[in-house]
Amino acid sequence: MKIKSFLSLCLLATASTVAADEFIKINTDQIGMVLRVKDNGRLYQSYLGKRLANDNDLQHLPQGNEVYLTHGMEDYFEPAIEVHHNDANPSLLLKHVSHEQKNIQPGVDETVITMQDDKYPVTVKLHYVSYAKENIIKTFTEISHQEKKPIQLERYASAMLHFSRPAYYLTEFSGDWIYEATMSTTPLNFGKKVLDTKLGARANMFTPPMFILSLDKESNETEGEVILGTLGWTGNFRFTFEVDNKKDLRVIAGINPYFSEYSLPKGETFRTPDFYFTYSDCGRGQASRNFHDWARKYQLKDGQEDRLTLLNNWEATYFDFDEDKLVELMGDAVKLGVDMFLLDDGWFGNKYERHSDTQGLGDWDETKHKLPHGIQKLVDEAAKRNIKFGIWIEPEMVSPKSELYEKHKDWVIHLPNRDEYYFRNQMVLDLSNPEVQDFVFGVVDGLMTKYPGIAYFKWDCNSPITNIYSPYLKDKQTHLYVDYVRGLYKVLDRIKAKYPKLPMMLCSGGSGRIDYEALKYFTEFWASDNTDPIQRLFIQYGYSFFYPAKSMSAHVTTWNKNASIKFRTDVAMMGKLGFDIKLSDMSSDDLTYCQGAVKNYKRLRPAIMEGDLYRLVSPYEGLRTHAANQFVCKDKDKAVVFAFDVYPGYGEKLLPVRLQGLDANKQYRVKEINMMPGQGSSLEGNDRVFSGDYLMKVGLNLFTGNKLYSRVVEITAE
Ligand code: GLA
Repeated sequence: MKIKSFLSLCLLATASTVAADEFIKINTDQIGMVLRVKDNGRLYQSYLGKRLANDNDLQHLPQGNEVYLTHGMEDYFEPAIEVHHNDANPSLLLKHVSHEQKNIQPGVDETVITMQDDKYPVTVKLHYVSYAKENIIKTFTEISHQEKKPIQLERYASAMLHFSRPAYYLTEFSGDWIYEATMSTTPLNFGKKVLDTKLGARANMFTPPMFILSLDKESNETEGEVILGTLGWTGNFRFTFEVDNKKDLRVIAGINPYFSEYSLPKGETFRTPDFYFTYSDCGRGQASRNFHDWARKYQLKDGQEDRLTLLNNWEATYFDFDEDKLVELMGDAVKLGVDMFLLDDGWFGNKYERHSDTQGLGDWDETKHKLPHGIQKLVDEAAKRNIKFGIWIEPEMVSPKSELYEKHKDWVIHLPNRDEYYFRNQMVLDLSNPEVQDFVFGVVDGLMTKYPGIAYFKWDCNSPITNIYSPYLKDKQTHLYVDYVRGLYKVLDRIKAKYPKLPMMLCSGGSGRIDYEALKYFTEFWASDNTDPIQRLFIQYGYSFFYPAKSMSAHVTTWNKNASIKFRTDVAMMGKLGFDIKLSDMSSDDLTYCQGAVKNYKRLRPAIMEGDLYRLVSPYEGLRTHAANQFVCKDKDKAVVFAFDVYPGYGEKLLPVRLQGLDANKQYRVKEINMMPGQGSSLEGNDRVFSGDYLMKVGLNLFTGNKLYSRVVEITAE
């Protein structure tokens, strides 16, 4: 329905009433957002929370704050947008012109609100896409103008949200390489809390673009009102949380405006990245499940399809391998029963052979003496064994010691008149340059053309943008952070168009680059280079708030051998299972155990990959001694529980863990699986039948007093 201007609607209103406000409702099944056009033409956010039942009540709502606050007018806090006009006037006043609401696909509606400045020809379109069943709202903004010369965009948020509550608690996910997504919560009081990054590529090394906002009081898995928000942008982002003098909270999400003033020519449209959020009034668990369901259905590459289990050679060999060693590892992959062998870093470069991370990036030819018969031989060896073959690349990067650098210094982001400095001995190629985009696309396309048998890529990105200056952008240097990301998307679009079914892992020295726009192109991401299973419990827990298990690669390695192979594998089974280990590091019992675990993992895919996640016990809880997660199939006929005793205290009182998400009226057989050979289960009630009601009200005694002990329990409806 196209709704003309607010004014014309008011004219239709009954003669006796003063011009009534117009309401724009953006709804999902559970969430309601109400925007209000006032008679001054300005747009306010009157409501955001649990969907209201009666439209008649909308008129009672408070006016609220202006939806997309602009710089230079009456507001004294952080604006969503700042535009400098041709005459250097830096202000913007946005008034509602029209809005349109339509169904864009089954279960998905879009609202587009067109706003204009009546003194300057600048148009801002606010988009809200609502996913009814999944309860996700996606927002983005389009900015365009008809001024003679380019206008300067100083800030250009994807979205602004307003809250008026007695208290706010922000949970952030921050850290660094090898301790990603560490969670901490802080109350928000007057002033600003900013979460941002300025790293360009590997943009999320210190913090990914995701947050949990608890309203009124702190939330937990099953209680409290929460907003989960995340930005789809594979570059610098900024979230600003500002509590004003009235104790109202404004949340601004978008590209980080730091060194990113953007010059927009007449007639062109600047489209911001997408900001996605969900709301739940029954805690964080439901909010996460909203994101998982939405991601699998609408966002994640091949979100509803299976994933390949694999053996990766990285931690098994690092750079020290040759053809024979790799072929031997393929044999290990077959014995383990996984689907694929993945060849990691160190296979390329001849003049500057990639024997360490000091050289070779950019020269994507097989190192002759390591792989005398080339990649084809490896593809063939994998095929002989009936497994797939995948390969690691880091195509956006260049080593100063490489032929590429010698040939194409003009393709490298680097400052004139300065010494270069390196992050992991490498530099970043200038993806704002279309020639570089062709080159990066050519890395994948070249390999796929030469070796069509390659079934998978691990795409790495180990450096932030350093020495920040683009030889290509010349006098538009402040476009680099934005145009780099847009260049990356152009490359990824081409790859997806030519190889639509090619699975790819997004890696960035662990998860230094993870967001939902990137995951349109990647089937999974590498959660961390840290594969110590105890640390992984925390890292995977953090990411699980936004990302479903099938997207989160988790490998069994030799990190922390104090933990048994069982403990290490049980942790990895809560994600996309893989191995980064050689069988010579395992006993024969370990191997037998792993073979069984891989089989169980494949069998339990409908629960782990497609089901609902319930975080039963947080590893952060109490003295950080236990953790437990449960995955439940959509039909509630099957569930699997993972329970971990990390470091139980002496004499600690162990309580049963109540399960969630089962059907209270069904009868379930409880059976411990993933047992080491010859070991019996000590689980109380093992192989007995319980009602869903009992399991959810009383629970199971999953935990023990043993250190580094783990348990996997299969729950099957009878
Ligand atoms: C990064 C990745 C690792 C591995 C190495 C190879 O650190 O996160 O998994 O691929 O690069 O150099």
